[in-house]
Amino acid sequence: MEITAAVARGADAPFSFETLDLEAPRPGEVLVRLVASGVCHTDLVTKSVFPAELPIVVGHEGSGIVEQVGSEVTSIAVGDHVLLTYASCGTCARCENGLPPYCENFVILNTSGGRADFTSPLSRNGERVMGAFFGQSSFATYALVAARSIVVVDESVDLVATAPFGCGVQTGAGAVANVMKPGPTDSLVIFGVGGVGMAALMAARAIGVGTVVAVDLSADRLATAKELGADVTIDGAAEDVVAQIVAATGGGANFALDTTAINPVIANGLQALAPMGTLVLVGLGEATMEVEIGHLTGNGKAIRGCIEGSGDPQQFIPRLLAWHAEGKFPIEKISKTYKFEDIEAAFTDAHDGTTIKPILTF
Ligand SMILES: NC(=O)c1ccc[n+]([C@@H]2O[C@H](COP(=O)([O-])OP(=O)(O)OC[C@H]3O[C@@H](n4cnc5c(N)ncnc54)[C@H](O)[C@@H]3O)[C@@H](O)[C@H]2O)c1
Ligand SMILES: [Zn+2]
Ligand SMILES: [Zn+2]
Repeated sequence: MEITAAVARGADAPFSFETLDLEAPRPGEVLVRLVASGVCHTDLVTKSVFPAELPIVVGHEGSGIVEQVGSEVTSIAVGDHVLLTYASCGTCARCENGLPPYCENFVILNTSGGRADFTSPLSRNGERVMGAFFGQSSFATYALVAARSIVVVDESVDLVATAPFGCGVQTGAGAVANVMKPGPTDSLVIFGVGGVGMAALMAARAIGVGTVVAVDLSADRLATAKELGADVTIDGAAEDVVAQIVAATGGGANFALDTTAINPVIANGLQALAPMGTLVLVGLGEATMEVEIGHLTGNGKAIRGCIEGSGDPQQFIPRLLAWHAEGKFPIEKISKTYKFEDIEAAFTDAHDGTTIKPILTF
């Protein structure tokens, strides 16, 4: 069938709106008509910094309505309202243990732009266009998605507001709820309150963490963080960021989350931890860094990474939706909608920080 997609043909080239051919669903795939798609920082870096095979259709926070299901799909029906999430193989040891973020095939399935067999469901007059980015390529009017990457939701769910739950939101919220699991007397410092950091903040408030500190360079974002329940906000450009965190947390934070992927910020995160504290890294940025090992050996501190919130989306996304329905996860406070045809404005606003979480509507 013919679809319209925003195609990335070069790192600095604007998206081009093109009519593409989309294959019919394979037995395990589902055809989804997109209603909305969030824009994640990973879309920006895939297009501009680490380009995958081009041309490619990116987008990986889709939501929509099922139009057709492959012959082997039994758990999803035509007309179902769905949120799309990242892809996982379902057969490796980690998928079988309920840890799809650490799927052995994660990189191929999510970042190559192709399916596991390197085929792509999209083409244009015979030219291959990568169309399985994060198992969905959601900057398009329709997507072919593996059944495993689909979370069926109730028709009462706002598919526009909750589209970003499939990546950025579950990444930040899951880093707190699934990895840190902080308690009511714990403290948490979040470095970078963009889409991922704000989701972490909302999850911390939903769970009931003792003290939450937000650090960012943007006064506007810090003001929004305060509105969302941060107890203390700190300008990341201040000389004494660590001292301010230590003072705000009564001796150091039990948990720290870095979303900036900037080495000096990560180093501050490690330093600002209380003994036995844990620093969780989620950002995509610098490849290596030097670590002061004394923090680890002398104080029992830990550093760990976390992909996509470290949970199973089939269980974690419904938990986020329940928080949202109860008013405990006000995603609307950080998002702004753009018409699909205004994708350039959405990317510009995400890049320069004007909008924390852009959501495209179709
Ligand atoms: N691990 C995963 O599974 C996963 C999933 C989604 C996104 N990501 C990555 O997470 C990161 C965050 O994504 P996002 O969408 O929230 O990005 P974002 O750009 O919206 O947020 C980053 C924030 O960091 C702030 N910042 C920059 N320099 C700072 C400094 N020196 N001190 C304090 N704050 C500073 C920025 O002002 C911004 O608010 C990206 O690298 C993205 O690629 C990872
Ligand atoms: Zn797997
Ligand atoms: Zn993402």
